Amino acid sequence: MRDDADRLLPPTPVTSLDGHLAAGGGRGLAHALEIAPEEVIAEVDHAGLRGRGGAGFPTARKWRGVLDNAAGAGGRLSLVANAAEGEPGTYKDRVLIEQQPYAFLEGICIGLYATGAEAAFIGIKEKFTLPVQRLQAALAEVREAGWRGADRIDIVLGPDAYLFGEETGMLEVIEGKLPMPRIIRPYEQGLNATTAVPNPTIVNNVETLTHVASILANGAAWFRQAGTESSPGTMVFTVVGDVDNPGVYELALGTPLRTLLVDIAGARDIKAVYSGTSNMVLTPERLDVALGFDEMADIGAGMGSGGFIVYDNSRSIVDVLAVLIHFLAIESCGQCNACKLGNTAMDEILAKVQRGEATQADLETLLRRSHTVTDANRCYLPVGSQLLVASTMQAFVDEFVATVERGEPTPADLPTPLIEAIDEDTGEVTWHPRYHLKQSDWSYADEDPRDERLEAIRTD
Ligand SMILES: Cc1cc2nc3c(=O)[nH]c(=O)nc-3n(C[C@H](O)[C@H](O)[C@H](O)COP(=O)(O)O)c2cc1C
Ligand code: SF4
Repeated sequence: MRDDADRLLPPTPVTSLDGHLAAGGGRGLAHALEIAPEEVIAEVDHAGLRGRGGAGFPTARKWRGVLDNAAGAGGRLSLVANAAEGEPGTYKDRVLIEQQPYAFLEGICIGLYATGAEAAFIGIKEKFTLPVQRLQAALAEVREAGWRGADRIDIVLGPDAYLFGEETGMLEVIEGKLPMPRIIRPYEQGLNATTAVPNPTIVNNVETLTHVASILANGAAWFRQAGTESSPGTMVFTVVGDVDNPGVYELALGTPLRTLLVDIAGARDIKAVYSGTSNMVLTPERLDVALGFDEMADIGAGMGSGGFIVYDNSRSIVDVLAVLIHFLAIESCGQCNACKLGNTAMDEILAKVQRGEATQADLETLLRRSHTVTDANRCYLPVGSQLLVASTMQAFVDEFVATVERGEPTPADLPTPLIEAIDEDTGEVTWHPRYHLKQSDWSYADEDPRDERLEAIRTD
């Protein structure tokens, strides 16, 4: 079995290139350069690595697909490392960059060599100041050390928007625009594409690329010593919410969800669990599911980027759904009418339920809106809304109906679960401090719009 030294999360943060090399780093890139690019891709393929950014797509298949498109259509092939980490409940990429930046850069250099991409871009939020500093310093060091490909890596600082993490939104930002998702996927039309020159582009998550460095250093068979047949390796999970020990934990895939949430994170009296905002709710009877891409899909769920938000039985499910849908309504970019209008309508209905002013007809409208919110969608964001609303209303229908019948305000005291920081020593979680001020057009209000609402409740 693999021991602790083989995990992505190091026992102590790796803060210099010397430290990385002393811990056995650098071997992945060295080995990759000794073999042919296609052999590098074959190794990643044998390892069975699947993307850790949300969809669990096989990495080698993505690389080969883009290579085929580039060969057929031509243009410049690029590699984009997605470090936007905008999914609610997820914090692992920032921890990886802070603690293991050289392994991440090594993975990018290997990706550049294996695919023959001309350039690599790391898309990271400007507000992630410490990870950005660590990355800039590490990149300067590996360039100085002459790592092959390092001089073709650029760091692109992006906005505090959910869609910056959506792969085509990220391409737009790299091109100097707003993160407005495109219809055509990056593997077909990538950076600075035109119809004549499609420039297919690979987009991979930070953790995915960091695993690539380990796989090339230790081999596919070693990688497969952890995990399951269809989901090999380890994954870096985040757990926040109503748990005693919130934090970032690396576990072998295939571990039961219950082990992560209950035994490790200390969740008790669980009511509902969400893996980000793009998957169905998980209720307590689902906790024995294995943390694997196919195992989760088999029960209709998804692992997302491995960030779990836990709510216990003290919470109003109306408040939980309201805070998640409010996030998606704000972050929707408005290029597709059904998405922006549908999410906004669902946000307003849920706020009405929270105020104790809704009728049963409003609940029916909410469910109906969830069916049409995905109409003509460019990106996956409203699919998340649909899954959240449909699954949560189905699992907690009695509570929704009872809340409406009571006609009283709910506590409405939950933060948007966007993680600003997790203190490694105390486990204290800081949420995005200004999210409640963010408006539908992505500007920030000067005053908290909820103050007015709370005042109205108080004076009623
Ligand atoms: C609305 C939305 C937000 C996303 N945010 C992120 C993100 O913050 N980080 C990330 O790696 N992937 C994010 N993704 C997934 C990316 O589009 C893309 O699938 C991923 O970066 C591919 O990397 P992988 O193959 O290594 O998993 C998001 C997707 C959607 C639809
Ligand atoms: S589906 Fe929604 S978030 Fe995605 S591009 Fe359309 S409006 Fe924007």
